[in-house]
Amino acid sequence: DFQGWTQERLTALLDNADTMNQVLDRPVKKVPALQGLTVCTAFFENSTRTRISFELAARRMSADVVSFAAGASSLSKGESLRDTVEVLTAYKVDAYIVRHPASGAAHLVARYSGKPVINAGDGRRAHPTQALLDAYTIRQEYGSLEGKKVAIIGDIRHSRVARSNAELLPKLGAQVVLCGPATLLPAGLAGQPGVTVTSDPREAVRGAHAVMALRLQQERMNGGYLASLQEYAGRYQVNEALLREAESGAIVLHPGPMNRDLEISSEVADGPRSRILKQVENGQAVRMSVLYHLLVGRA
Ligand code: CP
Repeated sequence: DFQGWTQERLTALLDNADTMNQVLDRPVKKVPALQGLTVCTAFFENSTRTRISFELAARRMSADVVSFAAGASSLSKGESLRDTVEVLTAYKVDAYIVRHPASGAAHLVARYSGKPVINAGDGRRAHPTQALLDAYTIRQEYGSLEGKKVAIIGDIRHSRVARSNAELLPKLGAQVVLCGPATLLPAGLAGQPGVTVTSDPREAVRGAHAVMALRLQQERMNGGYLASLQEYAGRYQVNEALLREAESGAIVLHPGPMNRDLEISSEVADGPRSRILKQVENGQAVRMSVLYHLLVGRA
């Protein structure tokens, strides 16, 4: 998470991502910054973007990468998280990138390994590198987050992306509005500095510079929370009609994966406002910057 991170340190991290993007624009997309280090991506939950971009990021900086896939491991024979991490650490892994369905799992891996750990998404709690790449993508558009309004619409309850953005974006000067049906808006988010909460999507989007749609995480709902997906889409879908309330040049984000034509219309997802593939692209540079800060550039 971003506890203890100052605006200056966060800005330096994003500035460094600009440098990493320059590396990625070169014909030879490789620097020796992490040569000799071994990074383990330990994913206990599925991922496309985060795992692949972290693995590419580490390789672009010449690290060795071990990709641990929980489903193909001895976890299926009952081995514990602690024993698994101790085995990996015995192989001289220097840093971990961890995704886990349980909140706090990254902290446990840090404790068990004694190594630097990057949280690649833990339960509903946090997905800090997603928020960093979201911030970076908005900053790329506007030059700064200062004074920008960012509306985040959808399944806030189950979203670690919403929580991390609500923590990060105000530190960079943005206002965040979290919006969804009352059943998908947990208590406790309103009242954070720079964060407001509403069930009215028009109010959320009015004057927004960036509108982020969130995936309905039906796998975490067990049939509860929503009476009807159609009703949800009718009121909360990020589509052209809703975007008429936003700033004229407002951009649209989605962390992915998308339920097309449910939380976001295909017209918007594929349209000129969409920065969804730009987010994906920026994920690699931002994660290179995070790895660099963690393993090389730390004071
Ligand atoms: N945004 C995100 O975390 O996507 P993946 O689950 O594909 O990594």
